[in-house]
Amino acid sequence: MGRRTADDAESSTSTEAASGSWEYQTGYDFVVVANRLAVNRVANPDGSTGWQRSPGGLVTALAPIMASSEGAWVGWHGAADETLQPFDHSGLHLHPVPLSEQEVEDYYEGFANGTLWPLYHDVIARPHFHRHWFEAYRRVNRRFAEAAAKVASQGATVWVQDYQLQLVPQMLRELRPDVRIGFFNHIPFPPPGLFAQLPWRHSVLRGLLGADLIGFQRDSDARNFQRAVRDRLGYYIKSDQIYVPLEENHEAGSPLGGDPGRGTAPRQLSVPVEGSYRVAEAKAFPISIDTDRIVELANDPKIIARAAQIRAELGNPKTIFLGVDRLDYTKGIRHRMKAYEELLQDGALRVGDACLVQIASPSREGVASYQELRDEIELTVGRINGEFDTMGHTAIRYLHHSYPVEEMVALYLAADVMLVTALRDGMNLVAKEYVAARKSGDGVLVLSEFTGAADQLRQALLINPHDIDELKASMVTAAKIDPEEARKRMRSLRRQVVSHNVQRWAEEFLQRLREQ
Ligand code: F6P
Repeated sequence: MGRRTADDAESSTSTEAASGSWEYQTGYDFVVVANRLAVNRVANPDGSTGWQRSPGGLVTALAPIMASSEGAWVGWHGAADETLQPFDHSGLHLHPVPLSEQEVEDYYEGFANGTLWPLYHDVIARPHFHRHWFEAYRRVNRRFAEAAAKVASQGATVWVQDYQLQLVPQMLRELRPDVRIGFFNHIPFPPPGLFAQLPWRHSVLRGLLGADLIGFQRDSDARNFQRAVRDRLGYYIKSDQIYVPLEENHEAGSPLGGDPGRGTAPRQLSVPVEGSYRVAEAKAFPISIDTDRIVELANDPKIIARAAQIRAELGNPKTIFLGVDRLDYTKGIRHRMKAYEELLQDGALRVGDACLVQIASPSREGVASYQELRDEIELTVGRINGEFDTMGHTAIRYLHHSYPVEEMVALYLAADVMLVTALRDGMNLVAKEYVAARKSGDGVLVLSEFTGAADQLRQALLINPHDIDELKASMVTAAKIDPEEARKRMRSLRRQVVSHNVQRWAEEFLQRLREQ
């Protein structure tokens, strides 16, 4: 099995090479396929570039499994018009998939984040439907499927991640019927009425049904998917088991470029004849965080000292409210700021006593709706601070940056109240990280009921972020909560997060996949 190290990774700028042909055949028993590779490019002090393992929970959870089962990770390395050879880094075998500049525009910014993302998040922003975006999505999905097919050993397990790659399971099954395929959708799956808007809905359903196990964050997501399959394809479903007919043409797309099998299919009412189907299972596996790592950092004296320093730098207010989000319209940042502004206007909160720290990490800056959101948020912050700041204190400390996990944990320790006001969120791992970090048992989590996390974190102050009065009332309750009541709630939240970490999530999914 040929392997290279990161230093050997060769790059070229040819878009022609984007069709991707690996120079050598490998055979990995466990293959993860995700839009992004498990490493980020970083600049070294001497001006050269190198790689760093991504800090996210998914990589943390899967790295040990990859090490023990000879695994490989297939994904895009984040730069357009650049082809890299496979390389090893941080104990991971990495297989970069190239994307041209045009494909980044049409597949990533376009179909993934201009069509699917808003559609799957309750159409908070308007989804755009463009046929050439879908064509790019199909073409890029095929490239990922081919890359996975080349590196998977006979009978390997291949785990495909997220909405960017929904056609990969079926494409991969066609190329490699011997492999076991799992798929996990990290974002919500929309209700059938919304999903029905998608001009390529049949292609997407058939693409996903190429997997043996299709995982979702919430029970409601799995139910939405099952209903879409029943309504559109008519397949028989019993106890999360979907009976996928074998004789149908499952090609994810038609030669004419349209959506195969338009309209609704007659519903199959009984178990099909033995041998005429295969079974795909669709159920919820709520993802979690690397709890041990967060707890370890929360116990680190340097990070505890940094938390105290943050409080002091903010002028030691009685209540620090904290929001930590990618700058995304799904996160309800505007709703949170509206509630906070009204509380300052009403006099229920006073600058000096209260401060809102809002971390908004840059995200998808090539997409117009994200640019508009940034303008709107920054205008709002300027207005609120202009009106309520004093010489010594600020109303909102707004930071448009990404921070390392150490700084995030210091912020969690510094914050009295964590505000998670997403209008729709597959899970929201920030909520779980805050809980994991609050080892002293105090602190209050205000949590939108429209997050996946709300299914598990029942002792948070659950809110409907559209109801500004309710949000305001919860923020005041959180600021004035009886410490014993706060501790009782936090104890229960911590029990949940400590016993359900991301490692357990991955093990449960893979165990179920093995049983399929
Ligand atoms: O929540 C879905 C997700 O794809 C995450 O996996 C990822 O961390 C986030 O959105 C940002 O994704 P990207 O920067 O790749 O668009």
